[in-house]
Amino acid sequence: MSFRSLTLGLLAGVVLGGAGLAAQATPAAPARTARPAEPIQPIVAARVTQPAKVELGKKLFFDPRLSRSGFISCNSCHNLSMGGSDNLETSIGDHWQRGPINAPTVLNSSMNLAQFWDGRAANLQEQAGGPIANPGEMALSHALALDVLRSIPQYVVEFNGVFGNPDITIAQVTEAIAAFEATLVTPDSRFDQYLRGNRRAINAQERAGYELFKSSGCVACHHGPAVGGASFQKMGLFGTYETQSTAIGRAAVTGKDADRMTFKVPTLRNVELTYPYFHDGAAHTMEDAVMVMGRLQVGREFTPLEVAQIVAFLRTLTGRQPAITIPILPPSSSITPRPTPFGN
Ligand code: HEC
Ligand code: HEC
Repeated sequence: MSFRSLTLGLLAGVVLGGAGLAAQATPAAPARTARPAEPIQPIVAARVTQPAKVELGKKLFFDPRLSRSGFISCNSCHNLSMGGSDNLETSIGDHWQRGPINAPTVLNSSMNLAQFWDGRAANLQEQAGGPIANPGEMALSHALALDVLRSIPQYVVEFNGVFGNPDITIAQVTEAIAAFEATLVTPDSRFDQYLRGNRRAINAQERAGYELFKSSGCVACHHGPAVGGASFQKMGLFGTYETQSTAIGRAAVTGKDADRMTFKVPTLRNVELTYPYFHDGAAHTMEDAVMVMGRLQVGREFTPLEVAQIVAFLRTLTGRQPAITIPILPPSSSITPRPTPFGN
């Protein structure tokens, strides 16, 4: 099967899937709304049902005491002032260590089919335990993280209030962080306004970019509300992706050679904020990323005009950023283990 038919097959799957559901929901309705189903759907705003848990998760997300240095928080690498990313090729971790891979955005990450580039964590809660104990990131053991939190009286009160249990466990820590992350969605982008029927929300160049994004097959992998995050795909279908990175992608999880260089398709929501691009952070501009995708994923050499159109479309995917009030963190106590930023 050629890639073109693979693409069209995937596309048909998306479109027919949507139509099939609609048909099921309204079996006898006449075809009043004959507009074809779009491969991208608007983002639905987060509904906060447990505000106290979300607020606690926000504190933990911003708390650098969950790192050995006392200096690195989740927000250091997933900066909510910068699209939930660090805008570095690869992140800086404990002791100024150079990370092995680009930090994906935490915005809309609740929509991913799994977490990490290779999908090794099933969901946000499972993911959140990783960086705290990762020696190259926050470098604190879970036991020490709990010692820190249990030594801070106001945290003990808050965990008790949220979980009804005076003890603090890692499962509670990661559950609270995940609850906060689930609120980090970005609805109301201009493109979503367009999808909801406001034809003037995007201009002619942006619309041309969207048509090209569909007709050249980008939507085979970048579809759904997150415009990605829904599947693992090979990087380099029409040629080898040249990279300095040693990451092997999904093969690290499945152990299958066929999964080498297969990565979770990144979301393209807020992509203008989350540079540099790709798992190695090697593409510094959206133009570069689009040209590489054209060549390696759909076998097309885009003209500069076409690249500009697609990039213009991608900019319309920037949504309303989460309104974050900086949390005031409860102070440490005399028994809180001291941070060790230098040595030890
Ligand atoms: C030192 C930088 C650093 C810190 C600190 C850090 N992260 Fe990350 N984060 C990364 C990198 C790099 C990745 C990608 C790793 C991979 O895919 O192998 C990542 C991946 C993720 C993902 C998966 C996103 C996706 O699309 O796959 C989430 C969610 C996340 N981090 C949340 C957190 C939370 C919550 C914390 C704090 C407990 C945190 N991170 C701390 C760098 C960091
Ligand atoms: C066969 C699946 C597939 C197709 C088709 C595809 N992409 Fe991708 N896209 C990916 C994967 C996988 C990555 C991550 C690659 C990596 O990091 O090594 C990616 C990454 C990207 C990125 C960088 C996002 C980031 O945050 O790092 C952009 C931008 C992008 N694609 C745009 C496009 C455009 C535009 C098209 C159409 C010309 C397209 N893609 C077609 C799978 C695909």
